[in-house]
Amino acid sequence: MPKHQQLIEFLDSIQDSFQNRNLIKLSMSKASNRTDDLKMIYVTPVELRSGLKFSFKYRFKTRDEVKNYSTEEALELVKELIGNSFMQILLNTNEEEQQLLVNKKGKAKRIVKKHVIDQINLNHNKEKNYLIKSVDNIYLERLGVCDKNGRVKDKQQDKFRQINRYVELMSHWFEKTDHPTTLNIVDMGSGKGYLTFALYDYLKNQLGINVSITGVELRENLVKLCTEISNESGFNDLTFVSKDIRDFSAKEIDVIIALHACDTATDLAIYQGIIADAKLIVCAPCCHKQVRSEMGSTTQFKALTKHGIFEERQAEMLTDTIRSLLMEREGFKTKIFEFISNEHTRKNVMMIGQKTKAKRNRKQIDDNVKQLKESFNIKRHELEDLLSKL
Ligand SMILES: C[S@@+](CC[C@H](N)C(=O)[O-])C[C@H]1O[C@@H](n2cnc3c(N)ncnc32)[C@H](O)[C@@H]1O
Repeated sequence: MPKHQQLIEFLDSIQDSFQNRNLIKLSMSKASNRTDDLKMIYVTPVELRSGLKFSFKYRFKTRDEVKNYSTEEALELVKELIGNSFMQILLNTNEEEQQLLVNKKGKAKRIVKKHVIDQINLNHNKEKNYLIKSVDNIYLERLGVCDKNGRVKDKQQDKFRQINRYVELMSHWFEKTDHPTTLNIVDMGSGKGYLTFALYDYLKNQLGINVSITGVELRENLVKLCTEISNESGFNDLTFVSKDIRDFSAKEIDVIIALHACDTATDLAIYQGIIADAKLIVCAPCCHKQVRSEMGSTTQFKALTKHGIFEERQAEMLTDTIRSLLMEREGFKTKIFEFISNEHTRKNVMMIGQKTKAKRNRKQIDDNVKQLKESFNIKRHELEDLLSKL
């Protein structure tokens, strides 16, 4: 078979995989111009609201850049690049792996390996619908979610699903909203940063939004770790600072995130979002100790809180209901819902506040809050106290 025929067949296979939606990944390496800063390009399918697109991750020496293209545009680009700019191409589809090697004289050699249905393939199949992929994912590997081959570790399957569910949820908001030139997001109590990295990666590298994310975290060791991983991943606009949420301030904050920030750290984060005039506040509250410790046992609802588990749930509902009322009072439309299955964790309630221009009846909301507090003998609520100082 003439060598150019092998190139034609390889390009046909790429076209089929793009059109039949069974591409897992196309990797182009061995740049013909060795002095060029661009080292590799990875192409993966990405399902956006606007339909199927192909995400080109351009790996430069010190950074990554991502651009999304339609099927036709992507095919045109790939045809231009293969054999001209890149000499080693690996095509992974659900059915097979093909490699194309082009030598200096332009002769191409195609090697086809049919997949045996093995674990890796199953992993790829399961993965292909996820917004965040585990293959070639530096931060997921460094955080211990997947191994060097991009396989999600057995014990990390829940975490991986949670990360993807979260990004999917957030994507609905970010895809349909107009953004400022730079979207400034602050993640309060970012911890080990699983969700912070994934959100940055998705917004910047898949949606192409010019985003800047700051993770605020008390624990210095986690800030150090996350900073290292961010640098390694080439995430130039993702930074971590070691600070108390209480003391954090920034010129512009468009979105505040606080996921499982402990107890009143959630109140601090909401408060910071309100004073910064953020457009969106996203939190997943956890451990509602402040309100629980305030709840009296001599109320008309004594029977409701007799059992510890119900007392805990009651504290959760009261804390978050009052938080949402106060956010509504400050001009946010709020939504509370379960964002992941409660099979593995009960910390699955998400509260989203979106700033609107609708007028609020502050007096009526204050009366509601007062009534709730009185009913359960709650003397104070952290967010209410914080806001009272404004
Ligand atoms: C349960 S972890 C959640 C981490 C991450 N948001 C997630 O969902 O994976 C809560 C983090 O909030 C941090 N934290 C709690 N209070 C804080 C405060 N006042 N200021 C900054 N960080 C805080 C803790 O150190 C911890 O790492």
